[in-house]
Amino acid sequence: MYNLKGSLMKKSKIFYIAIGVGLLGIAFYTWSGNIDIAADKKHWKVTEWFLGAVRDRSIQNETKKIVIPPNINDLAVIVKGAGNYDSMCSSCHFSPGTTSSEINAGLYPQPPDFTQSPLEDPARSFWVIKHGIKMTGMPAWGSSHSDEEIWELVAFIHQIQKLDQRSYEELVSKYGGSHQHENGQGHGKSSTNIQKSHSDGHSHEH
Ligand code: HEC
Repeated sequence: MYNLKGSLMKKSKIFYIAIGVGLLGIAFYTWSGNIDIAADKKHWKVTEWFLGAVRDRSIQNETKKIVIPPNINDLAVIVKGAGNYDSMCSSCHFSPGTTSSEINAGLYPQPPDFTQSPLEDPARSFWVIKHGIKMTGMPAWGSSHSDEEIWELVAFIHQIQKLDQRSYEELVSKYGGSHQHENGQGHGKSSTNIQKSHSDGHSHEH
């Protein structure tokens, strides 16, 4: 007589053995050192999808409790972010009139260009600026900046697409170094120029 129970048990045994072999294979491949972590080699499509999904789901989960301040569309708040954006962010995320930088070109994933791609969710921006994103190069600015300063940055980057180079520069010189660090040093314009691409016509050999 056909032994249904025995056959099912045999099948589930094969299933668990297959899973075990699969896990061993993954462990072996990881340990072999053959996974390339170079920033100038792209992920497989599936890895890219997986990491993007993990990031987006995690941020969605974390932002549920964030209350967006009612004043982030006020001009007085928006302009305050200009100086800090220029010194802390523009080398990676660009500014009106800048379309390349050595640091942006070398990072993987590449930082999004805020002058081109509008941002939609201020709570998401706040969370990312405050906490950073692991293994991407996006720093956590919350360890050195207050929530108020971070909201000013959020307000600014959500409007930066509307600025041309001249008005951007005017705002930066007016609101540059809008806060001072404990050691007395503010963010100055000079630190930006070091990191920006050499767009002034001279080239150099590395
Ligand atoms: C060293 C480069 C670097 C610097 C400096 C940097 N970022 Fe980023 N930032 C990144 C990278 C890379 C990502 C994309 C991470 C990813 O794809 O998961 C990112 C992502 C973001 C995002 C998320 C965009 C989205 O919704 O997907 C925001 C917002 C952001 N950065 C704001 C800022 C602000 C504001 C500053 C300055 C205070 C700043 N960043 C400085 C590299 C940088």
